[in-house]
Amino acid sequence: MSIWLFSTLSRPLIAECLLAGTGGVSLFPFYGQDPEHGGGFPVFRENHAGYHRRMRANGVSSTLVGQLALGGQWYPIALSEDIAPGPHGVQVLGRRYVLWRSEEGSLNAAPDRCPHRQAPLSEGRMAGGCLECPYHGWRFGAGGRCELVPSAVPGTPVPPKAHLNAVSIEERYGLVWLCPGTPRGRIPEIPQERNPEFRRLNTPFQHWAVSSTRITDNFMDFSHFPFVHTATFGLAQETVVPPLEMGDLPDGFRGYAYEVNANNTTDAGQTVTGQDDDVLHRRMTTGYVLPFSVRSTIAYESGLEHILLLLATPVDDVNSLFNFVVWRNDDFLVPAEEIMKFDLAIGAEDRAMLEKLEGVLPMDLTATVSVQSDRPSVDWRRSLVALLAEGGEG
Ligand code: FES
Ligand SMILES: [Fe+2]
Repeated sequence: MSIWLFSTLSRPLIAECLLAGTGGVSLFPFYGQDPEHGGGFPVFRENHAGYHRRMRANGVSSTLVGQLALGGQWYPIALSEDIAPGPHGVQVLGRRYVLWRSEEGSLNAAPDRCPHRQAPLSEGRMAGGCLECPYHGWRFGAGGRCELVPSAVPGTPVPPKAHLNAVSIEERYGLVWLCPGTPRGRIPEIPQERNPEFRRLNTPFQHWAVSSTRITDNFMDFSHFPFVHTATFGLAQETVVPPLEMGDLPDGFRGYAYEVNANNTTDAGQTVTGQDDDVLHRRMTTGYVLPFSVRSTIAYESGLEHILLLLATPVDDVNSLFNFVVWRNDDFLVPAEEIMKFDLAIGAEDRAMLEKLEGVLPMDLTATVSVQSDRPSVDWRRSLVALLAEGGEG
């Protein structure tokens, strides 16, 4: 068993990377084509301009736009405070949406296209508690109901088709979540949100020029740690990754648990951990909820717990919104900026690496070579392929 030492503990993003022990690297035995997932995938339409190369191997589509199963999932798209009251435009899976808050505070979402002459509603304004189209001033209230057609003679009924088709929206963890279709998936459950001993720390949304599949693959992978996170962690780390057991984690996540001894010698690390021991022992888990959510948990012997939710939302096949949320049961004295600054820097290292990768991650597991250390990310990819195979509404 080897001991892994890290330059600081203030980096929950490394939860994807950490592991105790040793193990050899061998060919992963089950990454081949799975007959269960090998066929029956519907053909989908490409509807964005920037990326045309469809990756298809053994019947498995790797592109995200148009995947019917993804339409029924929830995606974080903004901070709640970003829509106060709006309008706010966002693109998910190649389609544009507008969000706004009605006068009484309710959140609304609809396709970002006015039913009159298809102007982008997100470029309108809030007026009289309604979303006002920038072209002819039609106004839309709660649920997308058309409340006013300014050109119409007073008393004229609003055409039934003038109302917007509302899109499912929820607010949780300080984030706005959007489901483009009929909801079938779930928003990850973080029970610490309801625990007054924990505080939640939010970060701004970022746009990453990389596929959400590559982002999630990265968050389930820890073998990149000694190569990608050298600037933030400072030290070259153990590269050998021991065998991992995937299983069901609490709260509906699937992943693995492990323990690690971490270096705590830097000022930045001691500020965030609130402890001055040189080495701290911590129990950790890393797991996913489909399609693109990863949770890492860190528990210190001091009782401090640090929960990290890493989230990717596909803007299209090769662009994503990235966000992460932290929950901590500390004494709330460490400024949020101190905690987030280091984590944001680690995220920037992942981003710099990932944006060098072209296109989407192949869903055909035989199209990339995986080794034992890839077991968690391969497990996630197999689950995603199974989800995509379910299809959904057209
Ligand atoms: S296009 Fe929106 S009001 Fe005419
Ligand atoms: Fe990383």
